[in-house]
Amino acid sequence: MYTPEPDVCHELLGHVPLLADPTFAQFSQEIGMASLGAPDDWIDKLATLYWFTVEFGMCKEKNTYKAYGAGLLSSFGELQYCLTDKPEKRGFDPDKIASTKYPITEFQPVYYVADSFADAKDKVSQWAATIQRPFSVRYNPYTQSIEVLQRKSHVLTLARDIKSNFLFLPSLALSERYMDEAVRTLLFVIGEVATLVDALVKMK
Ligand SMILES: [Fe+2]
Repeated sequence: MYTPEPDVCHELLGHVPLLADPTFAQFSQEIGMASLGAPDDWIDKLATLYWFTVEFGMCKEKNTYKAYGAGLLSSFGELQYCLTDKPEKRGFDPDKIASTKYPITEFQPVYYVADSFADAKDKVSQWAATIQRPFSVRYNPYTQSIEVLQRKSHVLTLARDIKSNFLFLPSLALSERYMDEAVRTLLFVIGEVATLVDALVKMK
């Protein structure tokens, strides 16, 4: 059961292991990035989405249900409960998730089940792209910082980074050992291109 009090077991057993998974870490970051510059009503929606995913998310693996939310992984009682038929399991739809009410101090009556982290991330990205914000933001992996794309120099830097990633891709894809990395890089570059286009439209 969730507690609003500080809980080191929840952080270490629930959140830390999942953040070691690159796809999940990107998914988690996607929600945080979506909140930057978002209107207040969208902040509430994103907080609800965070609750039903990072805290109480479930996903499918080979047709069986698995828990990945930190609130489940750090609670053996709710972890057992969520895998029973008692709670309702719904498909992953960010728009529906964002308007679902939830209890804080009791087991959840509803869980949203993602097909995979990658699928959940894609759906959240598409949904978050509809947020009206006055500027574009980007996570720069080279400086490990968030950049607000408001000036021409920011956009040019992003364009240069996209180009160098594109040039790097073929050498990754040549080796079967690095194929997963090549796919991750390609998806990252596609996301960067979308951010670049968004920034250019807003600067017009
Ligand atoms: Fe948490």
